[in-house]
Amino acid sequence: MSVFKLNLFNNKVYKLMDVFLGKVVSMNWGMKNRLNRIINPKTGHCVMLAVDHGFFQGPTTGLRNLGKTINPLIPYADALMITRGGIRNWIPPEMDKPIILRMSGGTSILKELSNEIITTTVEDAIRINASAITCSIFVGAEFEQQSIANLSHLVNEGQKYGIPVLAVTAVGKEMARDARFLGLASRIAVEIGAQIVKTYFCDDFEKVVEACGNTPVVIAGGKKIDEKDALQMAKNARDKGAVGVDMGRNIFQSDNPIGMIKAVRAIIHDGMAVEDAFKIYKE
Ligand code: 5RP
Repeated sequence: MSVFKLNLFNNKVYKLMDVFLGKVVSMNWGMKNRLNRIINPKTGHCVMLAVDHGFFQGPTTGLRNLGKTINPLIPYADALMITRGGIRNWIPPEMDKPIILRMSGGTSILKELSNEIITTTVEDAIRINASAITCSIFVGAEFEQQSIANLSHLVNEGQKYGIPVLAVTAVGKEMARDARFLGLASRIAVEIGAQIVKTYFCDDFEKVVEACGNTPVVIAGGKKIDEKDALQMAKNARDKGAVGVDMGRNIFQSDNPIGMIKAVRAIIHDGMAVEDAFKIYKE
């Protein structure tokens, strides 16, 4: 509409704006549409299922046969965080949930984890029909700058094609998982341009959320803990401003993975009390 009006008044302006608006408007639409596929616009929340662990951990418990564990869980997930190898080996293309594609790697648990590179091109992400792309940043670690450069590269590529970027704030062994460190790492991710931040729950988590401004924050589950404690963590994170979880081991390593993901959904989307959600896990 505004382009048409500009055309009536000033053809030169129209041409400039056509190029400018044509790109920006269409890109914003695609970016927003992809984000809305991941974060449910009706509830404002999301349950991402993270199954990308193999890119540095190899055949993690629960993911040796990734398809066998994960395919039954897909109907209950809002999005799947996974590598391109994970998708092509174990996930049927009939699957219709949004993909958050892990684009970084190049390290293993045997070496310095922060020494990551970008392993996957944005063209391959588009071929896979990714709804978002993701990499980790290792603030305070040996290869901090390289990992932030990785994020910056993904954000620049994502802007070209309207693909949002989820930044993972990785925590090195020597880092404290507290609001000061996680706020620092999360804010850096936001300033570099990430559209979603994935971090860890901690005391004073609301400060981490506040540090991220309008950028949605999700929490990782971390190592497997007792189911009720994992549900409580999800509830606390939601209450303190997280839009949801990007949870892996606490779902797929549970003795009842389907019950667990249903319980997490009830907490994240409906705000259900932990005791009630725990009953869903038990069913
Ligand atoms: C590793 C990741 C993993 O996807 C994430 O940590 C997995 O989630 P969880 O901790 O809940 O198993 O981003 O960098």
